[in-house]
Amino acid sequence: MLNPYMPRLAHIVDVVDETRDVKTFILRPESAIRFEPGQFIMISAFGVGEAPFAIASSPFRPELIEVSIRAVGNVTRALHRMEKGDVVGIRGPYGNGFPVDQIKGHNVVFIAGGTGIFGISSFVWYIFEKRDDFSDVYLLYGVRRPSLMMRRYDLEKWRDRIEVFLTVDVPEPGWNGHVGLVTDLLDRLSLPRHDVVFALCGPPLMIKFAYYKLRKMGYGADQIFVSLERNMKCGIGKCGRCMLSNGLYVCKDGPVFRCDQIPERDIE
Ligand SMILES: Cc1cc2nc3c(=O)[nH]c(=O)nc-3n(C[C@H](O)[C@H](O)[C@H](O)COP(=O)(O)OP(=O)(O)OC[C@H]3O[C@@H](n4cnc5c(N)ncnc54)[C@H](O)[C@@H]3O)c2cc1C
Ligand code: FES
Repeated sequence: MLNPYMPRLAHIVDVVDETRDVKTFILRPESAIRFEPGQFIMISAFGVGEAPFAIASSPFRPELIEVSIRAVGNVTRALHRMEKGDVVGIRGPYGNGFPVDQIKGHNVVFIAGGTGIFGISSFVWYIFEKRDDFSDVYLLYGVRRPSLMMRRYDLEKWRDRIEVFLTVDVPEPGWNGHVGLVTDLLDRLSLPRHDVVFALCGPPLMIKFAYYKLRKMGYGADQIFVSLERNMKCGIGKCGRCMLSNGLYVCKDGPVFRCDQIPERDIE
């Protein structure tokens, strides 16, 4: 049997600086990685370790995989030191991804904060390519400051086919857009009560705020999907590191959960 911990090799074909501590890596794996929107991969920096990252690129371009990575610790800093031409290891894709077929035909509202945009990007790309399969689609994206807005090149392209609303906590010179919480943007939309689903990804506080605001607005937990991040080790349901309080694993049963299927205390 193949060793599930054995990574495939992938060449870094480009590196894009997003912000001071976030870089996007464009990877060409030995063979195409076919994945569902919302799935993640484990990337290893050889000799240092490995970590999970959302695939941020389009599922319709499996031969080139994009991951955007914030440098926070050993593995992510080692990856940030890498350059075009270097080689990393990849395992996966892992996790369930968004239940695209269930969501087809509905209105969709993405709510993302900070690096949470990476967790929903592949699904936005899916909708971008299959636009006629969905009703109205909105992306609400918030960051602390305008200069921290990531994957701007995607945001610009997406505007052609979906409604994109941006907000910042603190404006900088030249910013003419909205200032305030990403959840405030919900008040601008005139959404139907039914026939709409929400997809959340971002920092724990944002997820909590967005979830409770949507519930207060009358939406059911079964209309809200969340892509969760937890510390992981194996990525394949063996080590127990990413277990939620009801025994589900974020790596295997998630990272995308419908909010009526997990305890409210895990929605963060
Ligand atoms: C499904 C999934 C998708 C992810 N996608 C992305 C992505 O697209 N881009 C990205 O930059 N990061 C993403 N992350 C988070 C990323 O995996 C962690 O930042 C990474 O594991 C840190 O590894 P490290 O060795 O650099 O840091 P470590 O030395 O392991 O940790 C540094 C600090 O980060 C904290 N930390 C580690 N992992 C996590 C985590 N999962 N959530 C919150 N805090 C954590 C640690 O507690 C510690 O305080 C994702 C995580 C998951 C579970
Ligand atoms: S990371 Fe090992 S069980 Fe999820």
